Amino acid sequence: MPYLLNQFTRLRGQALRLYCPDHSHRSVSLSSNDSDQRVLSGMRPTGRLHIGHYHGALKNWVRLQHEYECFFFVADYHALTTHYQVTENIEQYTFETVVDWLAVGISPSAATIFVQSKVPEHTELHLMLSMVTPLSWLERVPSYKDQQNHMADKDLSTYGFLGYPLLQAADILAYRAGHVPVGGDQVAHLELARAVARRFNHVFGREPQFAEYAELAIDKMGKRAARLYRQARKDYLERGDSDALARARAFLGEQQNLSIGDQERLYGYLEGGGRIVLPEPKELLTTVPTVPGLDGRKMSKSYGNAIRLREKPQVVEQQVRTMVTDPARKRRSDPGNPAVCPVFALHDIYSADDVKSWAAEGCRSAAIGCVDCKAPLIDAINVEQAPFIERAEQFENNRDLVRTILVDGAERARDEARETLDDVKAAAGIGHR
Ligand code: TRP
Ligand code: SF4
Repeated sequence: MPYLLNQFTRLRGQALRLYCPDHSHRSVSLSSNDSDQRVLSGMRPTGRLHIGHYHGALKNWVRLQHEYECFFFVADYHALTTHYQVTENIEQYTFETVVDWLAVGISPSAATIFVQSKVPEHTELHLMLSMVTPLSWLERVPSYKDQQNHMADKDLSTYGFLGYPLLQAADILAYRAGHVPVGGDQVAHLELARAVARRFNHVFGREPQFAEYAELAIDKMGKRAARLYRQARKDYLERGDSDALARARAFLGEQQNLSIGDQERLYGYLEGGGRIVLPEPKELLTTVPTVPGLDGRKMSKSYGNAIRLREKPQVVEQQVRTMVTDPARKRRSDPGNPAVCPVFALHDIYSADDVKSWAAEGCRSAAIGCVDCKAPLIDAINVEQAPFIERAEQFENNRDLVRTILVDGAERARDEARETLDDVKAAAGIGHR
């Protein structure tokens, strides 16, 4: 069948997707595979991760992998956009990043884990998106000027650096991921990704015979669903009934037997417009407070104030013992203020309520000293890390195992991204199917 399918698709283009029984079968097996069920996120390879990465992102990823279809990748091309002059660490850092992911419980059987440069579809989509992205949109991304000033020692007046938010948009849109867990600093990038998706759909979403395909897709939902959809569409298009629009959207989201392509087509058809080739992604903001580093500033490898993931318990103990506290609490007999103490901010993350109130009250009344206050924290960090250390062992000593996980992940990722790229190129008139 695949052979015939290829032959046929080349002749008939898009139309075959709607008629081919094999395809409708596949659509059923991918029914959970709609944009709203997909999560994608990435991290630059910066080497060994720290507990700030865990509480700021990875802990959330571990949870998400059981609730969504998740794609997690190491953004090695992104490292090149700012560090093209120092590339000798990228491979080692990529390995270390992946080991840390596996250590905290990101599982290759629950999520697709891969390295960006092993999935060429990212770069291909980046190029396609660049065709419709106004330069001014990229120049306006806040991080563009900020980082150029911030990293004045580097020459960042490159095409690659200007385009990196667009590469990020391609990372996301290649999987038609609906949700992207990121920190607040990435929201502008998500906005760009949405704007570019919208523009792409507007420019290229008008496939010939769009209405015909849409009608066929409606019929695939079954009689009752088709009637509901048509009525809602009519109510919206004829009377501007936005409740009907919202209802129909929600209703489409529940349809189990539509392929992503048909579903997006029907979303677009609701509003009379073209097909949505690339659905708009939303940020999934993590509500974790920033993790303070040992010196009280935000924890960051570049500040040298981090507690690494999987750090030896003795080292954690030593690091927390020397950690900055409320600077006004100079002597043991001075009362302190937990609200300005970075150690207490860690208690907020690690400790149960009773420990927190013990620490806060003891601090304010000078009933406890900072050494006492830090003790349960040291324990809590080490208890959390113990399973990470154990899990990492099998991977650290076995690069081949990690490599196999990444090869498998890249394969799975490519399968999905390829579908998008085929659609994207066909929409842009260079599908040659
Ligand atoms: N730019 C992100 C960062 O610096 C990393 C990243 C690259 C990313 N591509 C992505 C995050 C896609 C989410 C989705 O943190
Ligand atoms: Fe900070 Fe605890 Fe010392 Fe108070 S007692 S200053 S909260 S470390």
